[in-house]
Amino acid sequence: MEFSWLLAPPIPPGTARQHLLYQRLRTAIVEGRIASGTRLPASRALAAELGIARNTVLHAYEQLGAEGCLVANRHGTRVATLPAREPPPAAACSGSPQSESVIALPGLSQRARAMPDAGGDPASDTLPFAVGVPDIGTFPLRAWRACLDRAWRGASARQLGYAPHGGEPALREALAGYLTTTRGFTLQPDQVVITSGTQGALDLCARLLADHGDTVWIENPGYPAARTALALAGLRLHAVPVDEEGLAPGAADWHTHAPRLILATPAHQYPTGRVMSLPRRLALLDGACRSGAWLIEDDYDSEFRRAGAALPALLGLVPGAPVLYTGTFSKTLYPGLRLAYLIVPQPLAPAFVRAAGQATRPGQAIEQRALADFIRRGHYTAHLRRMRQCYAARQRELRDALTRHPGPELAVTGGDAGLHLTLWLPPELADYALCEAARRLGLGPQPLSRYALAPLTCNGLLLGYGNTGTEYLDAAVRRLRAAMGAIPERS
Ligand SMILES: Cc1ncc(COP(=O)(O)O)c(C=O)c1O
Repeated sequence: MEFSWLLAPPIPPGTARQHLLYQRLRTAIVEGRIASGTRLPASRALAAELGIARNTVLHAYEQLGAEGCLVANRHGTRVATLPAREPPPAAACSGSPQSESVIALPGLSQRARAMPDAGGDPASDTLPFAVGVPDIGTFPLRAWRACLDRAWRGASARQLGYAPHGGEPALREALAGYLTTTRGFTLQPDQVVITSGTQGALDLCARLLADHGDTVWIENPGYPAARTALALAGLRLHAVPVDEEGLAPGAADWHTHAPRLILATPAHQYPTGRVMSLPRRLALLDGACRSGAWLIEDDYDSEFRRAGAALPALLGLVPGAPVLYTGTFSKTLYPGLRLAYLIVPQPLAPAFVRAAGQATRPGQAIEQRALADFIRRGHYTAHLRRMRQCYAARQRELRDALTRHPGPELAVTGGDAGLHLTLWLPPELADYALCEAARRLGLGPQPLSRYALAPLTCNGLLLGYGNTGTEYLDAAVRRLRAAMGAIPERS
């Protein structure tokens, strides 16, 4: 057998010959191109054949011996007996270094193959009108950094390990206090479970409250990332329409698609921005109780409510009702922090805390402690107060600019809370085409139809103002109106 191919070109730049020799020998042995039991040339002979130092061969043989690919004794060096493998394709048997056997990979799970496409493009997050992006420029970085510094100064080996199950006790306690004051909840810190974003909270709910194939109701239009999390957890998605009062299930939804889980954004429906009416809240709670379903209340941005006092949350509205509540710091602080929380009924708390700890082995104990400190010192409330005013001013300016600049008069919804307005377009202005045109003009709105599941069709724009200063909104609206004029009308 000749071995000159072991160091034949091409040789990747910067690769040491010793490493290349080891790698090619190993690949040839593992792929069965050098059969089990084959006797290899003595190190001196192989070095002479390849024109390299004997030590180079010795090192490669030693490494392969340590890995169990080669067996050396006083009779020489042989290829170890390895489990039989399918012979490589004919072209691969030449021993040439380029040859590769092709393995058919088992492929993705059915769930992954059916995964709904959430769309979206993080690259547009920095553009005016990007949706759901808070203002990073006004983030109280100095206060946050001081909290982080304090957390690091007090860091022990425990805090550099995994976070405690359910989250840092200091944060769970600070959140319980904050939510009791601001939302009027009656809750204990052990009902607060810290998660990696709302996505982490939804994943926990899907896995702990439902079984594979159970039905989960989602809003239509609704939050695409939630669809992805729930579908990947093995649940069957049932899209329920949304009207002016929020999620609007009909009798057929309750009877033919009886839910195990119901996901809703009652404080500020995403994406239409509508607020669920009190009668609808009570009807939903009643329906959930009757059908043995859990309601998951996603309260993702009600901190920025500006239309009077908030309606009571589903959680706590009817004592003992089957509700879990999730909130996030993605809008109030910044999305990359990846911290959110789930409020679970007391009897479920131990199971959720255990699962949160064991299923994901969470981290960020330092950030969690810093956040607890940030809340306790009043920075969080002060930041929210400032941002509420700031976003209210931006929304006013956005509405004014939309009427100031000539163009079709468009219905606007969603101004009661949050960081975006929803602009409803006439059928002849296709939202996808308009978003593409807007993108070419450096704007990042989202098409409303991206949030809908067939057969629903809706046509509109989500205009985020969280990341766009008041002084830029007039110019941004002018460009948006220009984009509207530039796209061909849909016939
Ligand atoms: C409806 C809804 N829920 C929750 C979130 C926040 O998700 P996370 O906490 O995973 O960042 C968003 C963000 O856009 C959202 O639109």
